[in-house]
Amino acid sequence: MSKALDGVRILDFTHVQSGPTCTQLLAWFGADVIKVERAGAGDITREQLRDIPDVDSLYFTMLNHNKRSVTIDTKNPEGKQVLEALIQKCDVLVENFAPGALDRMGFTWERIQELNPRMIVASVKGFGPGPYEDCKVYENVAQCAGGAASTTGFDDGPPVVSGAQIGDSGTGLHLALGIVTALYQRTHTGRGQRVLAAMQDGVLNLCRVKLRDQQRLDRTGVMKEYPQYPNGTFDEAVPRAGNASGGGQPGWILKCKGWETDPNAYIYFITQAPVWAKICNVIGKEEWATDPDYATAPARLPRLKEIFAEIERWTMTKTKFEAMQILNKYDIPCGPILSMKEIAAEPSLRKTGTIVEVDHPTRGKYLTVGNPIKLSDSPTEVKRSPLLGEHTDEVMAELGYSPEQISALRTAGAI
Ligand code: COA
Repeated sequence: MSKALDGVRILDFTHVQSGPTCTQLLAWFGADVIKVERAGAGDITREQLRDIPDVDSLYFTMLNHNKRSVTIDTKNPEGKQVLEALIQKCDVLVENFAPGALDRMGFTWERIQELNPRMIVASVKGFGPGPYEDCKVYENVAQCAGGAASTTGFDDGPPVVSGAQIGDSGTGLHLALGIVTALYQRTHTGRGQRVLAAMQDGVLNLCRVKLRDQQRLDRTGVMKEYPQYPNGTFDEAVPRAGNASGGGQPGWILKCKGWETDPNAYIYFITQAPVWAKICNVIGKEEWATDPDYATAPARLPRLKEIFAEIERWTMTKTKFEAMQILNKYDIPCGPILSMKEIAAEPSLRKTGTIVEVDHPTRGKYLTVGNPIKLSDSPTEVKRSPLLGEHTDEVMAELGYSPEQISALRTAGAI
């Protein structure tokens, strides 16, 4: 069966997490992703957080499926020539080096354009143009600079970063969208272009609702769905909202049966206005459905703490799965707090290919997150990550190098 990005060739100059998540998605959609790594060392994550000695780490294997690996020393003059041949043959170059590294290698935008005017050059950087454009950036720096950390956590505690890698994987997603959009535009302009996804911008895009709230706060000085209302105080900036949900559907995380010993025996409970009467029935507070202090959403806002405490008295009598089953019968939105252990064992996620077991020649079997985006006409097959330089000879032959030339380049340390 054909794939959406069949025929698209990607020169993958990415490392660590942000760039590799982008090129992995493109590979899952069918692009031929050729990962260029430093000879002898490779992507630094191959050896980071290793759980088995001398074997590519899960960090690396889980971010580099369906790619081919070639090792080229791009600072060696002959290595540079090989890279030029690759640039001429590929549609997209994706990189997430520190600012200026590609230029220092001699591959400026102008030089790449000379070699291949159809080339799309896509970059992840920590910051866009401005005071921090030259800074190196990792995940949590982006979460802090993009507004996520200042708005995450509890009011009486410090800023908190999220376990969701919104700075790295989030920016990789943004970049992938930029690349496919540029590929589409190229179908009618014939030209390549530069695509930039800055991690600060990507995080801020995901924190859009908090910039909305900043402006509401500036205007009114209060936000009634925040836990600071009605008893706390609001400062000048959007505060941390604990587990409150945004919008007009107040929610909170509540204890379930077993919470004393199980750190994940909790449920997220949303007091959605249209099902308020059903919530009252389920928790045994029928009178709240008609009591003017509780019957309407605005009347409930100053009483949310008391309301959630009452609902929690009910959720504590059920396991999170029992509560989920009962509440869903009445269309009451809620969600169990699932541990990674529970998610890894969840049969429905295995069935859809969102969790996949992969076999690897040196590591053996491991679990990974498959393609979260499902296309009906372009199914994803998750294939193991490449060993370092596994495809150097194969790719060199495709570029027209003879076995003798390949051997000479290897002796020269170029590949
Ligand atoms: N052959 C020879 N040299 C190579 C090479 C190859 N195949 N591949 C990379 N290099 C060189 C680069 O040219 C660079 O050399 P230079 O500093 O002399 O110009 C050097 O390796 C290091 O690259 P750099 O990107 O600076 O790596 P780093 O480990 O010092 O920094 C980051 C890592 C992630 C902080 C940095 O790359 C960065 O800020 N990237 C952009 C933001 C980003 O993606 N962050 C998220 C990471 S998950």
